[in-house]
Amino acid sequence: MDLDNLISDLQQRLPLRRFEHVLRVTETARALAAMHGVPADKAETAALFHDIAKSMSADGLQRLLTDRGTGPELFKFNKELWHAPAGALIAEEEYGITDRDILNAIRFHTTGRAAMSDLEMVVYVADMIEPGREFPGVEELRRHAEGPLSGVMEACIVHSVQHLVSKRVPVHPDSIECYNYFVQ
Ligand SMILES: [Fe+2]
Ligand SMILES: [Fe+2]
Repeated sequence: MDLDNLISDLQQRLPLRRFEHVLRVTETARALAAMHGVPADKAETAALFHDIAKSMSADGLQRLLTDRGTGPELFKFNKELWHAPAGALIAEEEYGITDRDILNAIRFHTTGRAAMSDLEMVVYVADMIEPGREFPGVEELRRHAEGPLSGVMEACIVHSVQHLVSKRVPVHPDSIECYNYFVQ
């Protein structure tokens, strides 16, 4: 995988603000990977891809996912979730990524899931705490990131589920399973 080509593709595909977010997530993922013994190249690749489908239209995402066998269940949830599985499909089909762990890290970066791999946690956490994030509580998550990976992942999923519940919006089953897994 030629990451320089990927970076210039991302620059074409994404608005500048989103592209810069992707670069910060990649930088953060690289640092977390180094702290936790995750291969840097995998963390970098998964992080670069994670939002590749972010600027597709809701219709385009739904069409792509439905075409590739995604059932109707996902579309009952916030469309903010759809770009993650779509990004994994694009990485696989357009860029020939075959590494399941990388594809899963892209796929589950918005919902999380139970029993995440270290790479999946690195991308999920990096997306949430990259230096451009400014939501209330992010500083505490960043402090957790100095400890074990599962500890910061737990703090992140608790924060995410709490946020969704406070807005009274549906929580995807993968996120609930992720939450249950980490708090048990
Ligand atoms: Fe995303
Ligand atoms: Fe992101």
